[in-house]
Amino acid sequence: MSADAPRYWVAIPAAGIGSRMRGAVPKQYLRLLGRPVIEHTLAIFLDHPRIHGIVLALHPQDSEWPRCEYADESRVTTLPGGDARADSVLAMLDWLLPRAAPGDWVLVHDAARPCLLREDLDRLLTRAAAHSVGGLLGAPVVDTVKRADAAGEVAETVSRERLWHALTPQMFRVGMLHAALSDALARGLAVTDDASAMELAGHRPLLVEGSRSNLKITRPDDLPLATFFLTSQANGES
Ligand code: CTP
Ligand code: MG
Repeated sequence: MSADAPRYWVAIPAAGIGSRMRGAVPKQYLRLLGRPVIEHTLAIFLDHPRIHGIVLALHPQDSEWPRCEYADESRVTTLPGGDARADSVLAMLDWLLPRAAPGDWVLVHDAARPCLLREDLDRLLTRAAAHSVGGLLGAPVVDTVKRADAAGEVAETVSRERLWHALTPQMFRVGMLHAALSDALARGLAVTDDASAMELAGHRPLLVEGSRSNLKITRPDDLPLATFFLTSQANGES
C-alpha cells in the first residue's frame, strides 16, 4: 500500500441512553450471547485488516465502558458524545479531522448494530470508495407502506418503488462529512443519519444493498432477533 493510499476510520456513536429499549443499562451494554452489544460491534472492525482506527463517542456519564474487553485497546479512542446522535458524530469528526489525510474515509456505524456482516462491510468498502461521494448500506423496503392521518387512519398508500431503509455503516470522506454535518447542525436542520447531512449539502450518496439482519437494536423484541442472527452467523448459516 502506498503512503498516499486513503485510510479507513470508523466512528461509532454509542452515547445514547436507549430509552425505547427500557433496559437496566443503555442498550449498547445489554448482554448478547454473553458479551455486551458494543463488543460485538467493535469486533467486526477490529478484526478487519483495512480499518486504521476507531473513534467511539460515549455518554458523559457512561460507567460501563471501562469494564468492556476493548477498554484498553490502543486502536480505540473514546470521547464524550453530545445531546443527539448527530452531535456525537460531529464530536468524533472534530477529533478525526486534524488526524485524517485529505483522502481518508470514515465509516459511521451505530453501536446498536452488532450483526453487520463482514461481506456487507466489504461490499460497502469497495463500492463506496469507487464513488465520488461515498455511500451507505441500505435495504429495499419490502412491505406496503402507509401514511397515517392524525386519527391513525390510512391517509394514503405510499409507493415503495425505489424506497430504501437507511442502515449503517455510512462511508464518506472525513473532510466532506465534517463540513456537511457541521453546516447542517449550524443551520438547525434535522439530521437523522450521516447521509442526510451529505444530501443537504447537495451530494448524492450511493445506496449499497446490505442484509436486513443488520438491525439496529431499538425495542425489547430486537434482542432475541439479534441473538438469532449472531448465532446463525457463528454457525456459518449467513
Ligand atoms: N447515539 C449517540 N448519541 C446520542 C444519541 C444516540 O451516540 N446523543 C447513538 C446510540 O448510542 C446508538 C446510535 O446513536 O448507537 C443510534 O441511536 P438510537 O438507536 O436512537 O439509540 P438511543 O438514542 O440510545 O435510543 P433511543 O432513541 O431509544 O433513546
Ligand atoms: Mg435515539
